[in-house]
Amino acid sequence: MSRSHGRLSIAASGAPRDLMGPRRLARAWTASVATLLPDVFPGPLGASLTGRALQEGLWQLRLTDLRAHGLGRHRQVDDAPFGGGPGLVIRPDVADAALREAREGMQDAPVIYLSPRGEPITHALTKRLAAGPGAVLLCGRFEGVDERVLEAHGAVEVSLGDFVMTGGELAAMALIDASLRHIGGVLGNQRSVEEESFAQGLLEHPQYTRPADWKGRAVPEVLLSGDHGAVARWRRDTAERLTRERRPDLWRAHTGADGDEDQSPRQAKEQGDKPAL
Ligand SMILES: C[S@@+](CC[C@H](N)C(=O)[O-])C[C@H]1O[C@@H](n2cnc3c(N)ncnc32)[C@H](O)[C@@H]1O
Repeated sequence: MSRSHGRLSIAASGAPRDLMGPRRLARAWTASVATLLPDVFPGPLGASLTGRALQEGLWQLRLTDLRAHGLGRHRQVDDAPFGGGPGLVIRPDVADAALREAREGMQDAPVIYLSPRGEPITHALTKRLAAGPGAVLLCGRFEGVDERVLEAHGAVEVSLGDFVMTGGELAAMALIDASLRHIGGVLGNQRSVEEESFAQGLLEHPQYTRPADWKGRAVPEVLLSGDHGAVARWRRDTAERLTRERRPDLWRAHTGADGDEDQSPRQAKEQGDKPAL
């Protein structure tokens, strides 16, 4: 059973709901999420700019409940790992049935498994994802998902960072949110996405607003000068200094010392043998 969010009603249906909507919705960027916790969606994605864009049909959210594909009276989705060890693993037959449902009408979209083993989510990755038709996102739980179903669906593994969470849902939301910022009309001002951290391969300069003097702390004078050239130079210099100090890895990539600016060395190495976005 799948659900859709947005301008369409949330109701059980045999047919994928997005294909039943108006043409504009049928072509909208779609996140189709397979999860054991469909009720946590849309969560923060349903608020503010992304929530409004969802209501306006600029993107769609489809949810597939892994539990609905569970086996037997108890809808079992997991089993003990072969070879022993702690925890449980999501069964390949259950994940496969859920992914088949989640992929209906999404043949051209990548299948992404949220996983700490994956390629780290970066600005470049979210931009590439946003340029396509959407994504099918598989959220793991427990010890993860049987490897064979990931191979069978050509899943790309994507990580929120070098730490372990209890499930893939927060990572899926982060990936969807960051991708939506690249989709026209989602942000009030599209210049934001072009000027923010990472867009130019740099961290962003500090931001200030009124009052000009707050508790004896004045904003940098150049920002009050009205000299647009000087403001642009100050912002650029500050962004470069912050990036050098805080993220030497980004700075090396920015200055070309790492080769491909969009790829970490680890990503480049892994792309040889793994599906990539
Ligand atoms: C407890 S974790 C499994 C960790 C796995 N046994 C390992 O050591 O790599 C359960 C699920 O949370 C999700 N998850 C955990 N950390 C993540 C991260 N950093 N990025 C993306 N997804 C994550 C994945 O979907 C994973 O299947």
